[in-house]
Amino acid sequence: MNAVFPGSFDPITSGHMDVLTRAARIFDHVTVTVMHNARKQGRHLFTLDERLEILREATAHFPNVSVDTFGGLLVDYMARQETGSVIVRGLRAVSDYEYELQIAHLNRQIGDAETVFIMAATRWSFVSSSMVREIASYGGNVSEMVPRASASALRRKHADVYEEREAELQAQTTSL
Ligand code: PNS
Repeated sequence: MNAVFPGSFDPITSGHMDVLTRAARIFDHVTVTVMHNARKQGRHLFTLDERLEILREATAHFPNVSVDTFGGLLVDYMARQETGSVIVRGLRAVSDYEYELQIAHLNRQIGDAETVFIMAATRWSFVSSSMVREIASYGGNVSEMVPRASASALRRKHADVYEEREAELQAQTTSL
């Protein structure tokens, strides 16, 4: 049985990686699909191409995982998959449940698409792409919260902030 792991992945986090690792053990093949909406393009830190590049690097070690993108309804994407394919979504905490439940029900109602939930390990329950973006925008250390490909991309995106913060920290250390 195949699965689709859809999301914005702006960028992929260690929580996503944990869910993907578990999904790759359960399903024959998992496609990580960046769902994009041309009208919402400006809302993301990373462009679609950047997100795809990060995902390809972060998932290269999985023999049964591929990366894809789709600009439309998830149910339309699912209709193009092999019969019986399911949607995989990760749950970090109870707070995710209400939103995910609504989407899962709607996807079943409008496209007969089945959703399977995988619980991320508790150590990732506070990690989200938005928090990672926030921390990185101030030059903070996110290396534990994201795969190396995301960390490098965040560092490149905020190179000036990281350099400035590191110089400040260095100056503080030498003045002690
Ligand atoms: O990583 P995210 O932002 O939580 O992912 C949400 C995503 C992309 C899976 C969801 O917004 C989605 O499926 N978008 C595609 C458009 C769609 O099908 N919307 C209807 C869902 S009811």
